[in-house]
Amino acid sequence: MKEIGVGLVGFGTVGAGVVEGLQRNGALLAERQGVKLRLAKVADLDLERDRGVQVNPGMMTRDAMAAVEDPAVQIVVELIGGVRAARDVILRALELGKPVVTANKALLAEQGAELFQRAAERLTHIHFEASVAGGVPIIRALRDGLAANRIRSVYGILNGTCNYILTRMDRDHVTFEHALKEAQAAGYAEADPALDIDGVDTAHKAAILAGLSYGVFVPMAAVHVEGIRGIAKADIENARALGYRVKLLAVVKEAAGAIEVRVHPTLIPAEQMLASVGGVFNAILVDGDLTGPTAYYGRGAGRLPTASAVLSDLADAARLVALGKRPAMWPERRADAARVRDIGSVEARYYLRVSLLDRPGVLGRLAGVLGQHDISIASVVQKEAHAGKHVPVVIVTHVAREAHMQVALEAIDAMAEVGARTVRLRIEDMEHERKA
Ligand code: HSE
Repeated sequence: MKEIGVGLVGFGTVGAGVVEGLQRNGALLAERQGVKLRLAKVADLDLERDRGVQVNPGMMTRDAMAAVEDPAVQIVVELIGGVRAARDVILRALELGKPVVTANKALLAEQGAELFQRAAERLTHIHFEASVAGGVPIIRALRDGLAANRIRSVYGILNGTCNYILTRMDRDHVTFEHALKEAQAAGYAEADPALDIDGVDTAHKAAILAGLSYGVFVPMAAVHVEGIRGIAKADIENARALGYRVKLLAVVKEAAGAIEVRVHPTLIPAEQMLASVGGVFNAILVDGDLTGPTAYYGRGAGRLPTASAVLSDLADAARLVALGKRPAMWPERRADAARVRDIGSVEARYYLRVSLLDRPGVLGRLAGVLGQHDISIASVVQKEAHAGKHVPVVIVTHVAREAHMQVALEAIDAMAEVGARTVRLRIEDMEHERKA
């Protein structure tokens, strides 16, 4: 059987998982694919740390480029993360005509257009199954399985760390900080956890899914991003009482010729499948025009699930090297900026938590401000209050335009009787799911 040499650049959590997965299931993979993967070089700045796997010390190097350029290396796996050094590694590999396997969603979301262009010029390929939703094969689902569909929408819970935090806050009433520490200790979080909790990691993944869905490279600047730092336990509890769960949701849609790509904490009806996705798990709902809704669920982070995605890409890349077959390329075009919808024109229902002074006529004025901005109230909840104190008033609106909501919120927060910045969260009803 033909053997293909693999150069692993980055021997961290996922890198060690790739070695473990290859040692455990390499023979099985070879039997299935007809090509054998052989680890030829491993590069990392730290050669000492115990990763729980054995690697022949002779194949270890601190020099990433030496691993890329080694003639025994025919496929390069980039798992160092970050943008700069990873980009150099990938460009050098492509220059040498070596296929690249990467989990680097930040780099692909920010510079994918250029990297894919370079790969096409060198008649090679970048494989990136591990960049979105770890062990869940969503890239293949969109690229291959759903290739004949027009994609109507993609809804994703794509960050295990955020979902873990929100689930722990919801079910176990732990604090945000405590839950974040747990996720970091379990190896789910990014090196800089701000990327997780501020929604940036999810936005990178959303841009990649949007690219696959609509065949265009979506610039990160066009993706609206809000994270979960501002979510209070009160909002999670209020949402629950109203029949919703709070999730950090990626929304990708095409309507009236425009693409919507946004990431924000979202109230999801409790009966929807995504509402029950807990802990570090990821889930994606894709609505294709031929298939109708389809769902994908699994571990979106961690050593072996992500390694599984890397190894599946390695198998593809090995067949490419051994048999010369080139899979379909993506993305090949840049999005016309005008095609990505500005957040101001997006329409949604809203949850508002207003800190309002309990005084005659104040609730009426609040309702008046919303009405003036074409925002209709669907429900209002105010627990019995003590006159003269600030009380939380929870409002759910009918569908409203984001631009109107922004102006209304400025007016509300300028009211003398409003004691704190109003919390505003969007609600996604996932209508297609209901109809299906
Ligand atoms: N930090 C990411 C997460 C890892 O928590 O999901 C996988 O991209």
